[in-house]
Amino acid sequence: MVRLISALIGAFFTLCLLIAFGTGLISYIKEPPAKTVEAAFHKHPGELALQSDGAFGSFDRQQLQRGFQVYKEVCSACHAIKYVAFRDLKELGYNDPEVKAIAAGFKVPVYNPGTGELKTRDGVPTDHFPPVVYGGSGTPPDLSLITKARHGGASYVHALLTGYAEQPAELLKKYPESKTPDGLFYNPYFANLNIAMPPPLASEGQVSYKDGTKATVDQMATDVAAFLVWTAEPKLEKRHQTGWPVLGFLLFASVLAYMAYRNVWADKKH
Ligand code: HEC
Repeated sequence: MVRLISALIGAFFTLCLLIAFGTGLISYIKEPPAKTVEAAFHKHPGELALQSDGAFGSFDRQQLQRGFQVYKEVCSACHAIKYVAFRDLKELGYNDPEVKAIAAGFKVPVYNPGTGELKTRDGVPTDHFPPVVYGGSGTPPDLSLITKARHGGASYVHALLTGYAEQPAELLKKYPESKTPDGLFYNPYFANLNIAMPPPLASEGQVSYKDGTKATVDQMATDVAAFLVWTAEPKLEKRHQTGWPVLGFLLFASVLAYMAYRNVWADKKH
């Protein structure tokens, strides 16, 4: 009796699964998902190899400094990095006077609760990067966590910065209504293909690197992407460094536990 009931219950669930699968299949055949212009022309970023990749990854400080320079000279006109404090930059290898000078180059807002006045003063190392007043179209997101917030992380940022292009003729032919509107820019790496950010890295030598690295568009995009990996996870190296000894310890503890188990049961089992 019990066996019969369990067989029936099993058959019932199998039937449910089959029906669910069947109806899904029928509706897929009847109404296949519409092929949108985004689905047809959206591109996925390629690989971007950074020294911080992988379980042993560490930061290339020289590169982070170059990336910070790109951020400061180009991106900071529109994007803030509010989770980063100026003094954090010491981790990139800047010394105290350098950090002070960088902080002093930014204006931070100070609110006077007594009068309701909003004034600005020069930044000091303990301040965070200030919000950016942006007057253009679109809303530039804060970039502190962007490499965590977007699928593809650093490679997405790199691909987005280097991916601006003319709209393909094929796209215009097939989807004439999808012509990039005025004020937006075609970028196949951006989810809806048209982004409000004007190409920020347009020409070689836009910044001049102190370490002599050639500032090609690709190099600047790679460096700023590496920098944004750091802003999103400044403790990455620490995590990697702690992770391995912890794993080693856990392995050692497992061996000990197993040996203790063998010992305890040694004369009680046949
Ligand atoms: C002239 C202003 C401006 C500059 C300079 C600028 N951006 Fe942007 N950025 C924008 C705007 C506006 C958006 C929002 C775009 C949108 O939503 O269509 C944006 C969006 C982004 C995004 C998010 C895209 C997404 O998936 O939502 C990233 C990443 C980004 N910018 C990185 C950078 C980097 C890195 C630099 C410096 C190399 C930079 N931006 C320079 C205006 C700017």
